[in-house]
Amino acid sequence: MLAAQLAEPRQSLINPATLARFVDPLPIPPLQAPQEHRAHPAYPQRKLPYYRMEMRAFQSRLHRDLPRTTQWGYQGSMPGPTLQAVRGEPMLVEWVNALPQQHLLPVDHRIHGAERSKPEVRAVTHVHGARVPADSDGWPEDWLAPGRSVLYHYPNAQDAATLWYHDHAMGITRLNIYAGLLGAFIVRDPEEQALGLPSGECDLPLILCDRLIAQNGQLYYPVSDDPEAPWVSECYGNAVLCNGKLFPYADVEPRRYRLRLINAANARHFNLSLSHRHAFMQIASDQGLLPAPVERERIELYPAERADVVVDFAGMDGQTIELRDQSDAILQFRVRDRGRRDTAALPAVLRAVPRIDPATAVCDRVLTLGEMDDANGGAMMMMLGGKHWSAPITETPRQDSVEIWSLVNVTGDVHPIHLHLVRFQVIERRPFDLFAWNAHRTLKYTGPGVPPPPHEAGWKDTVRADPGMVTRIVMRFEGEPGRYVWHCHLLEHEDNEMMRPFMLLPRT
Ligand code: C2O
Ligand code: CU
Repeated sequence: MLAAQLAEPRQSLINPATLARFVDPLPIPPLQAPQEHRAHPAYPQRKLPYYRMEMRAFQSRLHRDLPRTTQWGYQGSMPGPTLQAVRGEPMLVEWVNALPQQHLLPVDHRIHGAERSKPEVRAVTHVHGARVPADSDGWPEDWLAPGRSVLYHYPNAQDAATLWYHDHAMGITRLNIYAGLLGAFIVRDPEEQALGLPSGECDLPLILCDRLIAQNGQLYYPVSDDPEAPWVSECYGNAVLCNGKLFPYADVEPRRYRLRLINAANARHFNLSLSHRHAFMQIASDQGLLPAPVERERIELYPAERADVVVDFAGMDGQTIELRDQSDAILQFRVRDRGRRDTAALPAVLRAVPRIDPATAVCDRVLTLGEMDDANGGAMMMMLGGKHWSAPITETPRQDSVEIWSLVNVTGDVHPIHLHLVRFQVIERRPFDLFAWNAHRTLKYTGPGVPPPPHEAGWKDTVRADPGMVTRIVMRFEGEPGRYVWHCHLLEHEDNEMMRPFMLLPRT
């Protein structure tokens, strides 16, 4: 969107099209096991499983024929190990910053003058989509310098869903996640378990992200040469990694699989399909099960969105199927019969999603997306609600109250908007008059609202806010009072002020 002039990469980049495809097996991130059980003052009744997750630099191959790449990862892998939780069973995670003192990627100090006084390497982990108390949410300014750690507690008082954990440090999230600080966090519950969905080896997280890779195998993050636009407005890679590999393959059996698709990219949205026009049955969105499976030929996923799908390889023994983004292969499935069958059919009904009645909302907050502030020493900023990160908190919902947020996109881009703590429902996307808005701040709708399609009619935590539209969402603010954030999940936007705090006030 900003026409940043990019500096020439010092190293020339690889051309992924010249690499052999499907020569590396798909890595499945291991499940992290608790180290021990520990007491915690917030849960006096019992001892909780305690996990230690260390962020550190490591080297691995993104592809058989590439030199080793240095990345940062939790427990020294990208994606990090999968954390698994059960609804209502709290756990403790100690997040340890064991990263080196120098960043893996060039840190552009021009972006935020104030950043200069901070350590170059700083990290804090947020579990995306988790309903957690504010003290364990990963407040962006609560970052840890190398050598520091913090103990967070997760109540897991929420329905089964595919969540993910990632870095959230103020002003530098885009570089930390790009360096590899991300992984899956899966919540399970008995109702979902009772549905007989594919499980065990047939339940695979597929974490997708794109990277620019230099000839020497190292990650390249683009740097702007343009003083008018010192930050790169969106970083797009030329190589799509699936669970950290370029063009991997997965051996599967002729039966059903549950694939948990996670878009962990900085800015890219994926338009996913299967070869042979094989369809996905989407069973869940960001915050868990849809009311019923939805058959889809293509799945668009914006940054931080998730879709759980069931794919049936029955009757395809000996064949291969590709998972694609547009027409580009990401992953190849090789179907080989090893004599195991699944008997359970996909249930027609999954989990009811009771609609939150918008009429019960105590307010409708009209919030702009992407207003610019270029009076900032030449460093253009994008804002939410016309405000910088540091402006006093303006969004102060009350615990358990229902609110509507009307997200007015005044830019020409899609912004995937994420609220911490809550799950929400999409009411509609409604066209509005941008000129009337810019001239007199009046919100004039120019057409009827379009309700969400079935795959967006479940619980969400990240929503695509389209240009020219007011995207209206409704949520009940369940959770512990305290300070949380909401932001655009295009990480370059998030780091350049497209993030704001909100304060959940205690119920009266
Ligand atoms: Cu996925 Cu505020 O984060
Ligand atoms: Cu954005």
